[in-house]
Amino acid sequence: MSGHGDPIPMTSRACGPLTGRAEVPGDKSISHRSLILGALCVGETTISGLLEGQDVLDTAQAMRAFGAKVTDLGEGNWSVQGVGVGGFAEPDGVIDCGNSGTGVRLIMGAMATSPIVATFSGDASLNGRPMARVTDPLALFGCQTVGRSGGRLPMTLVGAQDPVSVRYTVPVPSAQVKSAVLLAGLNAPGQTVVIEAEATRDHTERMLAGFGAEISVENTEEGRVITLTGQPELQPQHIEVPRDPSSAAFPVCAALIVPGSDVLVPGIGLNPTRAGLFTTLREMGADLTYENEREEGGEPVADLRARFSPDLKGIEVPEDRAASMIDEYPVLSVVAAYAQGETVMRGVKELRVKESDRIDAMAAGLRANGIDLQDGPDWWIVQGRGHGNVAGGATCASHLDHRIAMSFLILGMASEKPVSVDDGGPIATSFPIFEPLMGQLGAQINRTES
Ligand code: S3P
Repeated sequence: MSGHGDPIPMTSRACGPLTGRAEVPGDKSISHRSLILGALCVGETTISGLLEGQDVLDTAQAMRAFGAKVTDLGEGNWSVQGVGVGGFAEPDGVIDCGNSGTGVRLIMGAMATSPIVATFSGDASLNGRPMARVTDPLALFGCQTVGRSGGRLPMTLVGAQDPVSVRYTVPVPSAQVKSAVLLAGLNAPGQTVVIEAEATRDHTERMLAGFGAEISVENTEEGRVITLTGQPELQPQHIEVPRDPSSAAFPVCAALIVPGSDVLVPGIGLNPTRAGLFTTLREMGADLTYENEREEGGEPVADLRARFSPDLKGIEVPEDRAASMIDEYPVLSVVAAYAQGETVMRGVKELRVKESDRIDAMAAGLRANGIDLQDGPDWWIVQGRGHGNVAGGATCASHLDHRIAMSFLILGMASEKPVSVDDGGPIATSFPIFEPLMGQLGAQINRTES
């Protein structure tokens, strides 16, 4: 879905304690992959707990365009009748991935080794994001690409007629790039090898194994070496999508900064490639505990309990933790504003090519709300003001970026004056129940006049 309709301005103001259970929606990364891998099996894959955010709905629509039968069975239950590896049909129209970098990059990978042509587009945010990081390795398989200058969408991919397998070292820490290459490797003969120097989220590897692909991971001096045997017959599955740690971050961080709060966020995946924020918050002195720790679907899961934390301290976030919390830096910078001392975030160049330039977007909004910070090409430092000292009062631009909009609304929950965002519409891409869920906990978020 390109564009998000009329902007939806929202304002958040200081509120009483946040209390209760926050049942956040399904994991966005796993939801995209469930639909795509389901489409690459012959037979029926069933999914429960699918995130029904716009990003994932756009991927569902794309899988239909490539020939899969995707059915919404209600209440987060979905069915995918797949077409098998190499079975994608040529779509009739343009594949519109809306706001989703994950959607477009994974789908490009999945079609790149089939002899079909597809054109991809998205909203203004997605059409500004770099795609060469994906189309460069896809070219090694024999896939051709024509797009706009700077490797941007809209873009047409001509899938390889006779794909060859590839050995590729991912030059940036990106699970999307790694996954695009692995999905392309599915329909190439022989072994495709992907090497990543830094570990990024490993859902594709885990799920490919679950669907019956032959895939191995070896930790070597070069990094993680992933070897996939091409042209498998994937087996349809039932997938239970765990709740999204990246969405859990918002009620957790809100509880830490709003006096008197005590919030339980149940059933959150703590896969080490995703849980870096929670480790960081605990190092900052957050009262954040893991309750009922267990394993579900081969993943560590716990209920997170977050309570108001009056003594938060700024820290230097280890650079090698960046990939495991890359989507959480915006909301971490909000918690950092309420901490004492500075929070240093380095090695985070990738933040500049997300749904927005997240360092610029957060820096502008935090400064407008009375918080000092310094920033450079791949780092930023937030000067914490401690509890009770964040001014607020400004309207922040969300730049078509769900996580920027939600982060500023969290900022306003404990600031002296309310904090507004010019457009909360993009929140629906990943966390469509954000407003009612936060409202039930006690947050005061209102839709406001533009
Ligand atoms: C994702 C990978 C990350 C992350 C995005 C989801 C995925 O992007 O920011 O929200 O599901 O593979 P990069 O691969 O660009 O780091």
